[in-house]
Amino acid sequence: MSKKKILITGINGQDGAYLSKYLLEKNFDVIGILRRSSSYKLQRLDYFNISDKIKFYHSELNEYRNIERIILETKPAIIYNLAAQSLVEYSFENPAYSFDINFSSVLNMLDIIVRNNLDIKFFQASTSEMFGNSKLDKKNEIARFNPTSPYAISKLSAHQLIKNYRDSYNKFFCSGILFNHESFLRGREFVTKKIVNGIINIYYNKGPVLKLGNLDSRRDWGHAEDYIIAMYKIMHKSKLPDDYVVATGKSYSIRDFIKKVCDCIDIKIKFVGKGLNEKCVDTKNNKTIIKVDKKYFRANELHRLKGNANKIKKKLNWKPTFTFNKLVEEMVKKEIENLSSKNNIFF
Ligand code: NAP
Ligand code: GDD
Repeated sequence: MSKKKILITGINGQDGAYLSKYLLEKNFDVIGILRRSSSYKLQRLDYFNISDKIKFYHSELNEYRNIERIILETKPAIIYNLAAQSLVEYSFENPAYSFDINFSSVLNMLDIIVRNNLDIKFFQASTSEMFGNSKLDKKNEIARFNPTSPYAISKLSAHQLIKNYRDSYNKFFCSGILFNHESFLRGREFVTKKIVNGIINIYYNKGPVLKLGNLDSRRDWGHAEDYIIAMYKIMHKSKLPDDYVVATGKSYSIRDFIKKVCDCIDIKIKFVGKGLNEKCVDTKNNKTIIKVDKKYFRANELHRLKGNANKIKKKLNWKPTFTFNKLVEEMVKKEIENLSSKNNIFF
């Protein structure tokens, strides 16, 4: 019997690598879309030793004709759409591009499926950013959306489109409303990886002082490995297409994250000063390891996020296995191993 084909966009990103590994272990035929680049892009897939098990196609996500050709040629059972302009702060700089990739490209793919009458299920990586700032403590699937960035607005438009196409054309189109999820494979421009990498570099390689933005914002951080299992369950275990919040239900500040990283490598720290003058100091030698820098503040901040994942827990029997402490401990351990290895990898 031929293996079921799964097409993943954003296959070389954090989630793409974890999902590919998981699906290959379940004996699916994994096909991935990459965009052409002058530099090597498969480090995360190489990390799991799976690059040679995947068939790659090349396309920018917004190239309609090319994406149509790939979908018609491969006829996958499921498309996991993980590709995105995923950096919130960049969306303030380049909102039009963020909309093109995060919204118009999704519209194109749904349209290709519907117009060609294809029997393809579609997963959309929606985001907790869509909730924005609100008084509700834990956000579930029916919480009000109040997006605070062009990124969040582009993702919310795609989220609504998935619902609209599902209802209008009776298709198995679903969204996972994913809260922040991290791992050793997280890109360095995101705050968790930046902190882990920056602090370890200071202590192991005499790296420069780490500069960060808002230390007060809070996120509900889970582990990517748990979140791709949620994606799988949404697409393979759910009888009817639906949208699900995926979250741990706990939230921590950027300052809490820094404290836990320092705890893992046995550094005693204290925070001194306020606002833009705040610093994090090593109490042993009074050396400043972190400074606050205006450059890393956003035009509009989402202050706190916490999710209520009761629906996916009850309906699909999903639950996170990583606590906050376990997540940070793993990120620190793997970062130290990587930085001290001769063949270290760089994301
Ligand atoms: P990521 O590591 O930033 O990966 C993004 C992927 O999209 C990369 O493979 C990237 O390729 C690709 N991509 C970007 N622009 C593209 C374009 N124009 N054409 C084709 N491919 C393009 O993101 P992630 O953390 O794995 O997240 C996966 C998805 O979940 C994203 O849609 C993100 O918005 C969403 N999400 C993530 C989180 C989270 O906390 N991680 C939470 C909620 C939702 P290059 O390597 O070429 O740039
Ligand atoms: N990136 C970054 N860099 N963020 C910083 C910094 C810094 O130097 N200093 C403070 N922060 C704060 C940001 O202001 C934000 O409040 C928080 O750290 C988290 O920032 P990111 O790690 O960049 O993640 P995000 O929450 O904005 O977005 C991520 O999660 C979303 C889900 O909620 C991304 O993965 C999005 O693609 C995803 O949708």
